[in-house]
Amino acid sequence: MSEIERVGVVGCGLMGSGIAEVSARAGLDVVVLEADQPAVDAGRARIETSLAQAVRRGKLSEDDRAATLGRIRVTWEADALGDRQLVVEAVPEIEPLKVETFRRIDKVVSDGEAVLASNTSSIPIMKLAMATQRPEQVIGVHFFNPVPVLPLVELVPSLLTSPAAAERAASFASATLGKHVIRSQDRAGFVVNALLIPYLLSSIRMLESGFATAEDIDTGMVQGCAHPMGPLALSDLIGLDTVMAVAQSMYDEFKEPLYAPPPMLLRMVDAGLLGRKSGRGFHQYG
Ligand code: CAA
Repeated sequence: MSEIERVGVVGCGLMGSGIAEVSARAGLDVVVLEADQPAVDAGRARIETSLAQAVRRGKLSEDDRAATLGRIRVTWEADALGDRQLVVEAVPEIEPLKVETFRRIDKVVSDGEAVLASNTSSIPIMKLAMATQRPEQVIGVHFFNPVPVLPLVELVPSLLTSPAAAERAASFASATLGKHVIRSQDRAGFVVNALLIPYLLSSIRMLESGFATAEDIDTGMVQGCAHPMGPLALSDLIGLDTVMAVAQSMYDEFKEPLYAPPPMLLRMVDAGLLGRKSGRGFHQYG
């Protein structure tokens, strides 16, 4: 089986742009698919900003920044994915949207050995695999935000994923990208979100009930437990729409009250208060 050199990423938001960046920084040729020209421009700008930040922090030379950008093509033309050996889907955490995206990826990618991966945080991989004619090639490859900084990737084979596809995806994440890989069964939330989401939701319930202020809840976990950021600030970083969607998938799967998104989270998402990306969540930004 040939080594992966040509990668596709579908969606150039918070996660897709990061996955495209780390793939190109590892020397791969990257095509990123977005919906239309404004989304293409916004996606490319996101990658450029992150690379500029890496240069400012001394993580990347100016020459490598230019070379990395030269390896990334952001487009709205789906046919550009045709020759990809691995495609990572990173569209918003909405099940029908992801299912439809897999249907499209399956139609356009011609290489029968190509790995069709999802960066879903919580949707069972089998639901995405069954939207394709090649469920044995479909696998979860879940990155963490910010992708250029956090070393973990969760690898989530479904019941139908072939060992060869799983091996290829693992080698992409660890040998090529230098990420640390852990494996999870195909259960909503996988390993990390199954532990993280109940904690984030607890902090929101704590705020909602007037137990403590947002500042004190976050300071408590930063100063008292040495977490890099508190749970409300972390929810803002992830995006409150994503936190809600992940919680909902886990609640649908397990019917455990601890996964049910609290009303305060639902109302904030209704109001468009999505965290850092909208400028306001539990904290203010910008
Ligand atoms: N490329 C390379 N390195 C970069 C970079 C880039 N684009 N941007 C930042 N870095 C590096 C910095 O140089 C710095 O490295 P050193 O310590 O070696 O100097 C390091 O990353 C930290 O960066 P900062 O100094 O900017 O920021 P910080 O120290 O305030 O940390 C943070 C910011 C990395 C976000 C940190 O607060 C953190 O790790 N928070 C927790 C994030 C987390 O838990 N994410 C998981 C969310 S869950 C998820 O994603 C999954 C899901 O399904 C919902």
